[in-house]
Amino acid sequence: MLLRISALLLAHVYVATAWNTFVVPHTDGQDDTPILTAALANYTTNSTILFQKGVTYNILTPIKFPVFTNVEVRIEGNLTYPTDIATIQAIVGKSVLGFPRCMVRILVACFGKQELTDIARFTFSGGNNVTLRGSTDPNWGWVDAHGQTWWNAQNQVNRPHGFGFSKITNGVIRDMKLWKPIAWNFATSGSSNIHAFNNRIVAVSENPDKVKSFSPRPSPSTRKWLAFSLVLIRAKRSHYLRCWYSDGFSAGGTNMLFENNHIQNGDDCLTVGNGAKNIHFRNSYCEGGHGLSIGSLGKGGQVADVQNILIENVVMKNSLYGARFKSWTGGNGLARNVTWKNIGLDNVRFPIYITQNYWDQGVGPKPNTTTMNNTHIQDFTFQGFTGLINDSPDFFEGSCVSDPCWYAVPGATGHEVAIFDLYPSTAINIVAKNIFPVTKTKSPATVMCDPSTISTDVGFKCWDGKFIRTKADKFKVMHATRAKRRGHHRGCVKK
Ligand SMILES: *[C@@H]1O[C@H](CO)[C@@H](O)[C@H](O)[C@H]1NC(C)=O
Ligand SMILES: *[C@@H]1O[C@H](CO)[C@@H](O)[C@H](O)[C@H]1NC(C)=O
Ligand SMILES: *[C@@H]1O[C@H](CO)[C@@H](O)[C@H](O)[C@H]1NC(C)=O
Ligand SMILES: *[C@@H]1O[C@H](CO)[C@@H](O)[C@H](O)[C@H]1NC(C)=O
Ligand SMILES: *[C@@H]1O[C@H](CO)[C@@H](O)[C@H](O)[C@H]1NC(C)=O
Ligand SMILES: *[C@@H]1O[C@H](CO)[C@@H](O)[C@H](O)[C@H]1NC(C)=O
Ligand SMILES: *[C@@H]1O[C@H](CO)[C@@H](O)[C@H](O)[C@H]1NC(C)=O
Repeated sequence: MLLRISALLLAHVYVATAWNTFVVPHTDGQDDTPILTAALANYTTNSTILFQKGVTYNILTPIKFPVFTNVEVRIEGNLTYPTDIATIQAIVGKSVLGFPRCMVRILVACFGKQELTDIARFTFSGGNNVTLRGSTDPNWGWVDAHGQTWWNAQNQVNRPHGFGFSKITNGVIRDMKLWKPIAWNFATSGSSNIHAFNNRIVAVSENPDKVKSFSPRPSPSTRKWLAFSLVLIRAKRSHYLRCWYSDGFSAGGTNMLFENNHIQNGDDCLTVGNGAKNIHFRNSYCEGGHGLSIGSLGKGGQVADVQNILIENVVMKNSLYGARFKSWTGGNGLARNVTWKNIGLDNVRFPIYITQNYWDQGVGPKPNTTTMNNTHIQDFTFQGFTGLINDSPDFFEGSCVSDPCWYAVPGATGHEVAIFDLYPSTAINIVAKNIFPVTKTKSPATVMCDPSTISTDVGFKCWDGKFIRTKADKFKVMHATRAKRRGHHRGCVKK
């Protein structure tokens, strides 16, 4: 025993002596990134790169880290991005595309949610045992992107993104705090064994009311999908409002645990991308965004492969979607074993939403899908959804820039707790259980589901109509009731 302890102590001493710390220097009124970038080559292994407390750093240019082994990037000071939009746009624009094509891309992004390729402000190039760590001091450790300026100007051309935490094995993202970020925040594509916890994203506008509203209840004639060409012209002429593409966490690798994160944003809270496996997202809070999403998958015929995703114990407040799956018409591959469990709804428009027929509304009407492949889905469970559906007749979400809105579902009543827009014969074992919907207007909850698209019991009557539980759901409810009667309630189980 004693031997083991002294061996450990020795190891500790050795590591301690081999450790390097680079305290990032700061100069008032200047960009602090060039000095950091120049020093990085000496701190790729066994190092801490420290933005120290008490300092507000100017991060005026994007930073690309080299491949790291045993490195911690610690943000204990405040970081500030440029405060004027033009400076950022000039930098981002240089590395991406010119202005006019960007305008087109933004339009596509609004309607088709196309992945943008804009550079991240912090790009990690990969490595092993890499930690990105913020601060628990409430006054320090904030990364301030000055989103308010962009939101007020209703500008989203060449926005700076967040942290590209890619190609890392054994990574940690903890205690990070993002203040008014403008675009996507954390992306973990190609990484594995990642633990992301205690992070906070505050993409909240001070004046959301400034958002210009289109007619919230389009007349039947305007709902016609073919009217889109006209709509697009209209949308293009009007302001781009909040189609922010400000995803919270984009999970794109394997073996990841996301927990105790607090996300207020305007797009997906979580988005699980192609290739993702063994992703666990739990005990978190999402506000204002577009849901706990798988996808979009299968774009441009992509063969998708997503497996073993568990999302549980999440509060969704003022969100457009709760649990969401989206795959593109004409895709291919399989997403299987996906569970959304114990989801608390607080004012959510579409609590459960699957579409295997996602298409680019900016390009034209829904394509004829019957002759193409599609992304298969299998073993999806939606379990334990409680809370309030926002079925207000005048519902409007800030990302809506067209009439009808990109999220409008033809034929929907607005009271839907679940919408299963499935591609025929490609969905197996999709079940909703223990769903307890309450609507704001007190109308009965409804569902949308085409029984010709799925042969297994989905837990409710598969039709366009009232939400009625079926055997796949009732079984559990009855089981629980019977167990309770027998006295196997919580008090007993606790032992
Ligand atoms: C890296 O470290 C070496 C040795 O200490 C030093 O000579 C060199 O200046 C350092 N390079 C940078 C860019 O700091
Ligand atoms: C980094 O530290 C480990 C011990 O944790 C040691 O084995 C390794 O040689 C160190 N690497 C460098 C480049 O110093
Ligand atoms: C991993 O990196 C951390 C610093 O973030 C360090 O304390 C730890 O010793 C490293 N682990 C190994 C196995 O070297
Ligand atoms: C750090 O930045 C945050 C967010 O902008 C701000 O609220 C806080 O006051 C700043 N801290 C200091 C000490 O200036
Ligand atoms: C399904 O995914 C969960 C994790 O979400 C995992 O524990 C379970 O083993 C997976 N089941 C199968 C059959 O792969
Ligand atoms: C769409 O599919 C149907 C059924 O396969 C077919 O009859 C129709 O011609 C197709 N329409 C177009 C525009 O391809
Ligand atoms: C459907 O998928 C199969 C297998 O990936 C592929 O060989 C075939 O070309 C695809 N067909 C279409 C119409 O995309």
